Amino acid sequence: MRTVQLGTTGIQVSALAFGCMSLTTARRDAGIAAVQRAFALGINFFDTADVYGRGESEEILGEALAAGGIPRDQVVLASKCGIVFQGMEPNYAYKAYDLSPRYIKTSCEASLRRLGADYLDLYQPHRIDYLTHPEETARALEDLQAEGKIRHAGVSNHSVDEIRALSAYIRLESLQTQFSLLHLEPLETGLAAICLEKRMSLLCWSPLHKAVLAGQSSGAHDDWQQQREVGAVSQLQAMAQTYGVSASQLALAWLMQLPGGVIPLVGTANPDHIAEAAAAAEITLARDDWYELMVIGRGRPMPWSQRPYLYIQVR
Ligand SMILES: NC(=O)c1ccc[n+]([C@@H]2O[C@H](COP(=O)([O-])OP(=O)(O)OC[C@H]3O[C@@H](n4cnc5c(N)ncnc54)[C@H](OP(=O)(O)O)[C@@H]3O)[C@@H](O)[C@H]2O)c1
Repeated sequence: MRTVQLGTTGIQVSALAFGCMSLTTARRDAGIAAVQRAFALGINFFDTADVYGRGESEEILGEALAAGGIPRDQVVLASKCGIVFQGMEPNYAYKAYDLSPRYIKTSCEASLRRLGADYLDLYQPHRIDYLTHPEETARALEDLQAEGKIRHAGVSNHSVDEIRALSAYIRLESLQTQFSLLHLEPLETGLAAICLEKRMSLLCWSPLHKAVLAGQSSGAHDDWQQQREVGAVSQLQAMAQTYGVSASQLALAWLMQLPGGVIPLVGTANPDHIAEAAAAAEITLARDDWYELMVIGRGRPMPWSQRPYLYIQVR
């Protein structure tokens, strides 16, 4: 498995990471097998969060690593904090965010307990908390670093300006944000650019657009949205055939080809699916095909010109 550097940390992580949101009790055994298969295939980077399955994801990830005899120093563990648990009742909702020092420290210790780990390699405020000054959040993260509980800090779901504000107080090594062929905002809003400016890794959540880019229907409520997705995926599948790969592999390869360490977080609890994803790290797209896929994902020409290539028509 190809590796890339995580931000400026010197830590080498696999070109794609295992997203642990699907590790829940309902899929425990398959999820454990998927984590162990991922590691065997060279995936050493695992992303979880305290709120995934209300803690179950961290517990199952910890269990999978321990049961597989996988040494702690051979994996890079990332977790998140800041989305407040609002209670355990059915249909509960997350309503508040908290990045205050007290909340962050308590959350981190609870995550370490659930994972059965002494430290996290990467700790990420999950969403912005408007009620905490970024200097306070930074201080809490630095305290955790000084205590050896986290090695590095990143952020999740922060805007360009919010990244600038927190970066003024602490070194951020990564941004985690939604990014896929069907969700191109990071390229359009400056998020990808600020990661290059600050040498932060860009971790892409829902890189398969929640399985749509693997050919499953999103169940989108709007007809136009479903039609757009079906149209884009059928064009993706046509190109995937010419490469002899699957549509999902091509969609992941498209992300990984961006400069600066763009790392898809592939969400699965299926060992075969993570193996399929791992193989995508070996695919290199021709430059014109890469742009053609961008046009397909956008569903309209590039902003500065007409449709640059006519891939489907000419091949
Ligand atoms: N920071 C945030 O706010 C945030 C938000 C969402 C997600 N995330 C992170 O991003 C990760 C991935 O996100 P995600 O799960 O929403 O999206 P995703 O990776 O785009 O899609 C996951 C879905 O695709 C399916 N899938 C994967 N490979 C497949 C294949 N080869 N063929 C068919 N289906 C396939 C999975 O089903 P199977 O399980 O059956 O494979 C699952 O239903 C999460 O685990 C989490 O780490 C972060």
